[in-house]
Amino acid sequence: MNEHLNWRYTTKKFDRSEKILEEELKSLLNVLRMAPSSYGLQPWKFVVVRDVSLRSQIKTHALGQAQVVDASHLIVFCALRSMDDEYIRKYVNCMSEIRGVERKTLEGFELSVQEFLKSQTPLEISGWMKRQVYIPLGMFLSECARRKIDACPMEGFDVGNVDGALGLAQEGVTAVALCPIGYRAADDRYAGLKKVRFETKELSIER
Ligand SMILES: Cc1cc2nc3c(=O)[nH]c(=O)nc-3n(C[C@H](O)[C@H](O)[C@H](O)COP(=O)(O)O)c2cc1C
Repeated sequence: MNEHLNWRYTTKKFDRSEKILEEELKSLLNVLRMAPSSYGLQPWKFVVVRDVSLRSQIKTHALGQAQVVDASHLIVFCALRSMDDEYIRKYVNCMSEIRGVERKTLEGFELSVQEFLKSQTPLEISGWMKRQVYIPLGMFLSECARRKIDACPMEGFDVGNVDGALGLAQEGVTAVALCPIGYRAADDRYAGLKKVRFETKELSIER
């Protein structure tokens, strides 16, 4: 059952010589694009870090975890730092254009999004946006596994330093999770470990 999810594991040792094909990377990035979000607002950006020296810097801000440099690619999952009326307008314009509906008919929707955001503190909005970033992360991990690509989701890093190294404040975003992807080294000892998961009945509540 769900064989690919059993195949996947958090890869700690990557084969440095194996690289993900650009076409495959493109498909994976499209998975991120397709993730659902509250109101459809997509409060996120995804950084593909190709620069080797930047990856070395990030490694030092990530408890020295070697996956950051050894994997084929490093993806940084980011949340927006804030969301203003201008952003909402852009999204609603996009919706009007793509669906071919009159802009005017979407004003009620636009207002309700604006009102929702005004009812929250900046801290609440920031938490709300960061939580949403875990949706594309989850979908991404699942799709990587389906394609037999290894991944290592990581929260163990210093956000301020990673934001600084990548110039993320200037982009209006902040790092939420790192995800090196590539192919497992033949001797990664984590590959053979059994999954530690509670039984479904322990995770389920029926009413
Ligand atoms: C949000 C998140 C953050 C994580 N952070 C790290 C991390 O910084 N370093 C690491 O080696 N593993 C990290 N992990 C991996 C977990 O330890 C791992 O998923 C868990 O032990 C289950 O093992 P499995 O993924 O191999 O099934 C993280 C996982 C998630 C989902």
